[in-house]
Amino acid sequence: MRFRTLFTIVMSAAAMAAFAVEMPFIAGEKFPDTDGRHINAHGGGIMTKDGTYYWYGEHRGDGTPGSGQKGVALYTSDNLRDWTNRGIVLAMSDTEGDILEKGGIIERPKVLYCPNTGKYVMWFHHELKGRGYGAAHSAVAIADSPYGPFRLIESSRVNPGIMPENLDTEARNKTWAKDLEWWTPQWREAVGEGLFTIRDLEGGQMARDQGVFVDDDGKAYHIYSSEENLTLQIAELDPTYTRHTGRYVRLFPGGHNEAPAMFKHDGTYWLITSGCTGWDPNEARLMKAKNIFGPWEQLPNPCRGEKAEKTYLGQSTFVMNNDGRYTFMADVWNPKCLADSRHLWLPIEFEADGTPYINSPYNK
Ligand code: GAL
Repeated sequence: MRFRTLFTIVMSAAAMAAFAVEMPFIAGEKFPDTDGRHINAHGGGIMTKDGTYYWYGEHRGDGTPGSGQKGVALYTSDNLRDWTNRGIVLAMSDTEGDILEKGGIIERPKVLYCPNTGKYVMWFHHELKGRGYGAAHSAVAIADSPYGPFRLIESSRVNPGIMPENLDTEARNKTWAKDLEWWTPQWREAVGEGLFTIRDLEGGQMARDQGVFVDDDGKAYHIYSSEENLTLQIAELDPTYTRHTGRYVRLFPGGHNEAPAMFKHDGTYWLITSGCTGWDPNEARLMKAKNIFGPWEQLPNPCRGEKAEKTYLGQSTFVMNNDGRYTFMADVWNPKCLADSRHLWLPIEFEADGTPYINSPYNK
């Protein structure tokens, strides 16, 4: 009897070790933290370290419409279901003129642990106070602990003075007709040939919606909507994960992709994005590549079933790799009260040929 009990305990411990913690299925309902308050971490992502899950996201005010953003929020969990509020780990400043002054915008923060430096590195989209979405900065902050505080080291445009690897240097000397009307065939051609890349060459590329990705070899990459949100760019980060190396490519020029979430499965890079309709949901897109620098191929919407054409009312933010099982994480934005925006966590499944897809939460 005793032996059997011991055997059962040993077997259950082995089973627990073999299987990762289950990711919960979240379908846009309120998601309370351990204090019972809806989780105020949006456009975020999860970093896993030593058995703890760290969920970083946009803090969007105290829940009263119009209340301001304080910075980046952190929630932690050891089972992916019960999340404890750890407060603001990157704080916006009350000091006038500070680059992180409140009234600016912080979006889509993602944190990586850098094994080469032992630091935690946060990348985010940063807009400066009083300039709407005009600055289009990418920002990076570091901390010694995953609980912060994170310290800003840079907020700027990306790779100033450097040409993307997949744009001919002849583009530098190209002249396009002035005041090309958007969405005309001539304008599309010009965008493809680097109209905005060259316009912004000196000061650096625009960077709004963004994410980061660490490859199997430990190299990290920054993926962001650039060139007036028309073209995605993928830029390599240096071994500290805090700087761009200068190596970058453009993806789907004029494709209008936002909300990039990258993952790798069986040697293929997958990228889920959204179209560009502000807080309103639209149809998700799926792209794949064998090499992170391309060529990239676009596939049909990975969402299936009811409301698939609106990504189940959500917009991608992150794909969580939980020991080889993947979860699509998205935000159901509520622009009237962003703090009350909801979360979608849906399992990613794979076709026999390896193509990922997501089933509708509304069909269950
Ligand atoms: C969305 C974007 C969000 C936020 C919003 C503002 O398209 O994905 O992160 O920037 O626009 O309207």
